[in-house]
Amino acid sequence: MLISAIVAISENNVIGRDGHLPWHLSADLKHFKAITLGHHILLGRKNYQDINRPLPGRTNIVLTRDPNFEAPGCSVCHSLEDAIAVAEKAGETELFIIGGAEIYRMALPFCKKLYLTRVLASIEGDVKMPPLGEGWVKLNEECGESDEKNDFPYAFQVFERENKH
Ligand SMILES: NC(=O)c1ccc[n+]([C@@H]2O[C@H](COP(=O)([O-])OP(=O)(O)OC[C@H]3O[C@@H](n4cnc5c(N)ncnc54)[C@H](OP(=O)(O)O)[C@@H]3O)[C@@H](O)[C@H]2O)c1
Repeated sequence: MLISAIVAISENNVIGRDGHLPWHLSADLKHFKAITLGHHILLGRKNYQDINRPLPGRTNIVLTRDPNFEAPGCSVCHSLEDAIAVAEKAGETELFIIGGAEIYRMALPFCKKLYLTRVLASIEGDVKMPPLGEGWVKLNEECGESDEKNDFPYAFQVFERENKH
């Protein structure tokens, strides 16, 4: 099973503000949906509480240390290993790590593919993306302009981690 991360990051590395996304980018929401639909997605408890519902058409796995936490319509796991095992057992081909920062920090070392939306602006925020690690090779990039549905210009980028022999 491939483990991938998908994230939108500003030029100054911001991914969140006050528990939410700090921008509105309709094109990125569509892009995120198209890529993740039909798959298992793994998210942190804080990201889940921002979204506040399971994302439809995907198996949502919420990570928390709270043994009593309930997330209706989602699986709840208490370790990354358990979450990976749930997806693997279900025959998943690609598990998506969808954040936030704590979950990216923990899972990035296991990710071989990265779907990165570069938000082409410097944006204020209180949650930053942890270091991506080494060995990422860009496979593809598509750019879009800001308009009435997209606060900022953006670039959809896809990276794979090079195989080291
Ligand atoms: N730009 C983007 O693409 C993007 C994507 C996703 C999220 N975001 C933003 O990121 C922010 C949230 O990120 P965040 O870093 O504050 O929170 P988070 O990663 O969403 O969630 C953190 C929580 O995950 C649980 N957790 C972390 N490590 C764990 C472990 N090893 N085992 C079990 N549970 C664990 C803990 O839950 P408990 O406290 O319940 O134990 C922890 O408080 C929001 O602003 C959101 O909008 C941005």
